[in-house]
Amino acid sequence: MSHPASPPEDLEAPELAELGGDTLDPRDWGELRALGHRMIDDMFAFLETVRERPPWRPVPREIEAQLRQPAPSDATPFAEVYRDFTKLVLPYPNGNIHPRFWGWVQGTGTPFAMLADLLASGLNPQMAGFAHAAVIVEQTVISWCQQLLGFGGAGSGLLTSGGTMANLTAVAVARHALAGFDVRAGGLQDPACPRWVVYGSTETHSWARKSMELLGFGHRALRLIDVDDDYRISVAKLRARLAADRAAGLTPLCILGNAGTVNTGAIDDLHALADVAAEHGAWFHVDGAFGALAYLSLDHRELLRGMQRADSLAFDLHKWMSMPFEAGCVLVQRPGAQRDAFVYHPAYIAPTARGVAGNPSPFADLGIELSRGFKALKIWMSLKAHGSDAFGAAIAANIRQAQALGRRVERSARLQLMAPVSLNVVCFRYRRDGLSAAQLDALNQEVLLQLQERGIAVPSGTTLRGGFALRVANVNHRTVGADLEALAQAVERLGDELGGAPAVR
Ligand SMILES: Cc1ncc(COP(=O)(O)O)c(C=O)c1O
Repeated sequence: MSHPASPPEDLEAPELAELGGDTLDPRDWGELRALGHRMIDDMFAFLETVRERPPWRPVPREIEAQLRQPAPSDATPFAEVYRDFTKLVLPYPNGNIHPRFWGWVQGTGTPFAMLADLLASGLNPQMAGFAHAAVIVEQTVISWCQQLLGFGGAGSGLLTSGGTMANLTAVAVARHALAGFDVRAGGLQDPACPRWVVYGSTETHSWARKSMELLGFGHRALRLIDVDDDYRISVAKLRARLAADRAAGLTPLCILGNAGTVNTGAIDDLHALADVAAEHGAWFHVDGAFGALAYLSLDHRELLRGMQRADSLAFDLHKWMSMPFEAGCVLVQRPGAQRDAFVYHPAYIAPTARGVAGNPSPFADLGIELSRGFKALKIWMSLKAHGSDAFGAAIAANIRQAQALGRRVERSARLQLMAPVSLNVVCFRYRRDGLSAAQLDALNQEVLLQLQERGIAVPSGTTLRGGFALRVANVNHRTVGADLEALAQAVERLGDELGGAPAVR
């Protein structure tokens, strides 16, 4: 029976076997191969000499205009397109691969992981997760992450684009695991749905607010509890808020702990939070975006005591594990909880008993994404090549550098430490007697911009209780102590230079 939408039979149409194709493969493989070798050589030279260039410089207007061209319909030779890259993109990097970049929390990447990414793109598997070797690689990487962070192997995990996705996924799992009704069917409109609330400190990263909005709780249901002088959540205030909320008929869903806050690197009392969560039957989630990886350093893992009591943990391998973007990870301890929150098999992707779709645990069952790239390869190859101890050593070096910068700041009459150095984040600023709080804020904002624009170094900025601060978040395996000494000297020099400038009123 012919389908009603079938086009009428065309007697002129060629037979199927006579039809050609329009491949995007190169006509001349040898030419593209030679270009590929050149690209790799150029990129190695670029990485090897990274220290000789400024970390950052603005994209000039004429370069921007050349980048913002209409979509091309005609072909350009590969070599010319590559030349455009070397002229228009390569000279204007974000800066995070440079040894004097400590802005936000942006990892550095490694040359070997770059090569692994190339291989992953060449192989180009769809990582929803069918029956192929790349799936076993990702499952192995998840198992390695569990082992390296002291988590049991009974739970599950997933590589994500980053920390935001990893944290969001964890809270979605918590919502499903604790609902007690079919939240996947009825959602928050189900009559059985309680008025849920989630708790974290005022230092919790913005992923939490966005996730509350996206999961339908609304960000008003995110209770941001005050922190102590060390920027750690006040457990007493958390308890008081929980009691008040319960009395008002609200249900605590999840307690969020920070293992390294984004602002200052503070680590909450994770044992105390695990206790509070257990007392209230709430899920305990730890955001360890960068801090969790300090567990790889034997000298520092004690700082993270209690982390393994988390029901779920989010962290980023593209931060302190130096993987090229993107590589986040969520681990869930409760067996089956992650899959129960997401599994769904419509007919067109149903697993089969054997064959390509014959894998019982595809990654699409563990999160919201279906199409996923082969992020696991760079992690698998890097851990094999360097060994986990090398990552632990790089992390320990960053922490020691941060502590030494903190001491350097405290010794200087012209610098002021703005928060305790708990881990790898140093918040400080230029100070001078006789300037008002607003003048000091403006002066330090200008110091920050000039550090970046003069190509000296890239810290970022934040506002703490004491006012505006320069913020050094050190996850950089290329940094040596002299880089941070150069930063401290530059802040003193720029502060002196700008102290009387008109920008400061
Ligand atoms: C503590 C913390 N949590 C979550 C995130 C978000 O991670 P991502 O940028 O990978 O989404 C960050 C980013 O810096 C962070 O520092």
